[in-house]
Amino acid sequence: ADTLGAAAAEKGRYFGAAVSANHLGEAQYVATLNREFSSVTAENEMKWDALEPSRGSFNFSRADQIFDHAKSQGMDVRGHTLVWHSQLPNWVSQLGASDLRTAMNSHITQVMTHYKGEIHSWDVVNEAFQDGGSGARRSSPFQDKLGDGFIEEAFRTARAADPNAKLCYNDYNTDGVNAKSNAVYTMVRDFKARGVPIDCVGFQSHFNPNSPVPSDYQANLQRFADLGVDVQITELDIEGSGQAQAADYGNVVRACLAVSRCTGITVWGIPDKYSWRASGTPLLFDDNYNKKPAYDAVLSALGGA
Ligand code: G3I
Repeated sequence: ADTLGAAAAEKGRYFGAAVSANHLGEAQYVATLNREFSSVTAENEMKWDALEPSRGSFNFSRADQIFDHAKSQGMDVRGHTLVWHSQLPNWVSQLGASDLRTAMNSHITQVMTHYKGEIHSWDVVNEAFQDGGSGARRSSPFQDKLGDGFIEEAFRTARAADPNAKLCYNDYNTDGVNAKSNAVYTMVRDFKARGVPIDCVGFQSHFNPNSPVPSDYQANLQRFADLGVDVQITELDIEGSGQAQAADYGNVVRACLAVSRCTGITVWGIPDKYSWRASGTPLLFDDNYNKKPAYDAVLSALGGA
């Protein structure tokens, strides 16, 4: 196979990219997306502020542009994300507990119903744990007003809304074994023990010199898989260049392939110029859509050429 999507498919995986509706009018962007990728995540367009900017008033137009494009190409769609403290409209933060619970469940239900049966995986809850050594929950309107139970409530509501979507918990700095990933692990283990519906854990995998690919990356993916959930690499990017960056990318792909329940990889953008890391070069294509050494390393690790 000579594309990322086709090579990954031969390994039983998808290979996806985060996509912005802004760029869908750019011919080279779309050509690269269509040629290389088998899955799409909306970079911003399916977040709460984009979809429900005022209470009960939904705007799916930009999200649907991405969704429709992906479906027209036969790609999977990852839904990102239903419950997150960031890119949350102000009206949500201002609600009291009872209204907030209603609003959260309504948002999940209405968004998932709009795409019912058509989404591969949903990031139901994103980034609910603190960084650092405490293993504690992050302060957010949901955590502060609804308490720890908001996460399982969100997952139960999501299962009822679309039983065909895989339901994921997604976070960053959980890629290796550390206090934060231990806290997520404990939550997932508890969910599985009590029958709270969860199907997958997303490891964002935003790597840079201060936060390199952990040496126990594969072992960490495997311990989650051993709980009985799929694992996905959901937002991969690696700051760097040349052969060093290529080597890191190859290691990430090999770690996923070594874990049978690691079902797919998504990179967080297509050309470097559109990365959220504005001054960096963390992706697989340069600003002119040329394949970088990192691309070759990924394709080769996937068994393609
Ligand atoms: O929508 C407004 C637009 O109206 C305004 O004119 C423009 C001016 O700056 O800003 C636009 O919002 C920006 C938005 O992206 C859409 O382009 C925000 O300023 C900007 O902060 C936002 O950044 C996104 C970031 O999430 C916000 O948290 C990045 O594109 C996106 O890549 C990034 O993605 C997150 C994942 O969702 C979760 N994990 C971490 C990852 C990287 O931060």
